[in-house]
Amino acid sequence: MPDIDIGAHDRAAAFAEGFLLEDPVLRAARARAEEVGILPVSPGAGAVLRFLAASVGARAVVEIGTGTGVSGTWLLRGMRTDGVLTTIDVEAEHLRLARRTYADAGMPPNRGRLITGRALDVLPRLTDGAYDLVFCDADRRENPEYLIQALRLLRPGGVVAFTGALTGGLAADPAARSPEIMATRELATAVRDDSRLTPMLLNSGDGLLVAVLATSSPVG
Ligand SMILES: C[S@@+](CC[C@H](N)C(=O)[O-])C[C@H]1O[C@@H](n2cnc3c(N)ncnc32)[C@H](O)[C@@H]1O
Repeated sequence: MPDIDIGAHDRAAAFAEGFLLEDPVLRAARARAEEVGILPVSPGAGAVLRFLAASVGARAVVEIGTGTGVSGTWLLRGMRTDGVLTTIDVEAEHLRLARRTYADAGMPPNRGRLITGRALDVLPRLTDGAYDLVFCDADRRENPEYLIQALRLLRPGGVVAFTGALTGGLAADPAARSPEIMATRELATAVRDDSRLTPMLLNSGDGLLVAVLATSSPVG
């Protein structure tokens, strides 16, 4: 691994995270997340999600782990203006708070399809190849299974994204072996080794692992 000046790296990461400021709608959603004890995506990770949604011209996005709607609002703002976000959360109260966030952000109700349930129960009911982007931010131990579902749901050229790919640096520590860390490593290997995917690991938030699904079989 090349030598890295950690101090300079941390300053650069902090600058990148603060480059795009969140508006009052997102700040209020973030405050509600703190009240219910969940951690939304960072502003930098949110900006990446908005960018990805815009770059694929997303009309249909699946989000696993709605929370209070911070990431969903970033995604909706990058999607086409007629795009629909299908978002899944096991907690009805979180979905209620997210619905309020989307309304505060001026999103018409028909832009959000909010589904209460466990991700692995709901995902099999969604249509194959019908989505431009799948974003995973729920139970990190289930991420390898979310990947299998995401690859079924994405259209060719679609994008999958996972939070928590760095887990505070623990993913790189061989001594760290919790179920969450083990699943994070399993996911990273699965994404990196899948010849249908073009992957990238971004140092945004707690690490965003993103990959594009090939439009056809890779050459060479
Ligand atoms: C970190 S929060 C999501 C934050 C949200 N993505 C944001 O940035 O605003 C994780 C969410 O996943 C939900 N969750 C946890 N396990 C789940 C599961 N197995 N299926 C569906 N939702 C789950 C939790 O209720 C919680 O709202």
